[in-house]
Amino acid sequence: MDITVKKSVPLKGEIEIPADKSITHRAFMFAALTKGKVKVSNYSKGADCMSTLKIIQDLGCSVEFINDKEVLINAENSLKEPKEALDCGNSGTTTRLMMGILAGQNFNTKMFGDASLSKRPMKRVIAPLELMGAKFKHNDYKMPIEIQGTQLQGIDYNSTLASAQVKSCLLLAGLNAEGITSFTEPYKSRNHTELMFEYMGADINVEGNRVSIKKSQLQPKDITVCGDISSAAFFMVAALIVPNSDIIIKNVGINETRSGIIDVLKAMNGHIELLNKRIVSNEEVADIRVKYSNLKATTIEGAIIPRLIDEIPVIAVAASQAEGTTIIKDAGDLRNKEADRITAVKTELQKLGADIEETQDGFIINGKTELKGDCEIECYHDHRIAMSAYVAGLICKKPIKINEFQWVDISFPEFLELNSKLTIS
Ligand code: S3P
Repeated sequence: MDITVKKSVPLKGEIEIPADKSITHRAFMFAALTKGKVKVSNYSKGADCMSTLKIIQDLGCSVEFINDKEVLINAENSLKEPKEALDCGNSGTTTRLMMGILAGQNFNTKMFGDASLSKRPMKRVIAPLELMGAKFKHNDYKMPIEIQGTQLQGIDYNSTLASAQVKSCLLLAGLNAEGITSFTEPYKSRNHTELMFEYMGADINVEGNRVSIKKSQLQPKDITVCGDISSAAFFMVAALIVPNSDIIIKNVGINETRSGIIDVLKAMNGHIELLNKRIVSNEEVADIRVKYSNLKATTIEGAIIPRLIDEIPVIAVAASQAEGTTIIKDAGDLRNKEADRITAVKTELQKLGADIEETQDGFIINGKTELKGDCEIECYHDHRIAMSAYVAGLICKKPIKINEFQWVDISFPEFLELNSKLTIS
């Protein structure tokens, strides 16, 4: 689906942001391990989470859609060997977290994914799992991968990468391993696994950037998933850069390990208010008011990077509208996402007229530049590149065409509908 994006009227009004992708993956997978029934309310309907849901069904869970918002997962029977290879689609989170579950089962599985997923590095999870005794067959640590289930042993693993996917993989493996499994990372990555494990009664201990788990049985507890700050990010930036905008984004997860974008946009002089703070299934949630603002440049580096890793493409759009030079560094892992997001963002924003250069691990962006548009944008099969380009298109002088915009369905199928809700004049 190719679309055209035109200069926007001000964004006004309220929207409710759909469910968090990371938390939904975990809710589905952890429910599958409870040996009971779990109702998941307000789950993400993005294709990535549907890949996870299909996989737990292939492993023997039954799934009942109660209504548009609620799904009941019945995991009363133990997981069983799937009849066919498991399709992880485009989803790195499905792949890496499921490996932690599957490596310790008493059966074998095969996993595969789409062209983008088949290029992504899996050594980051395979290497530590092998230290726990796991057995794999693969070609250069890439999908497709065969997992030979076996009894795992706990390890004390020091990761050079701050990664919630690696951490969660090892914690899931540790749930079923002998002894204690510990994971330490240089900066704290998103902690949804730790919070949900705690909520479901696992024997987990967190000290700073180190997490340890003992063999535990997760208890069946219903989960309500909050809205996704990574989806809200697109409307936050849109409202900050489209003149006269003033919006409220409701039900956004503002977990400290995910909310780096709020800190950065505030440091850039963005008008952002957090309203109605509350706790939902062990996660902090708020409604967020965002008003058009005169942005100024900033530097983004170090410990904040894992707290906003997925938002960097749209932060780059904001930086193109900020006075001064924005520097983003320590974000080299962006090259290993659904696309090489450093080269993709630079190439597409340059086409629009932004003054942006790539470095090995980030960007140098000079603002404020008028975006002229009048070009065709590629989204590299990457949902976040597609939506970041859309946001930029809202302020381009001339319309832009975005090719294959359907990639948004990976995380945010409701994106266009919510955008039109905010732009009814
Ligand atoms: C995710 C963790 C992040 C993030 C990804 C989702 C998760 O990846 O980029 O979109 O749900 O754990 P890394 O942990 O590899 O940085």
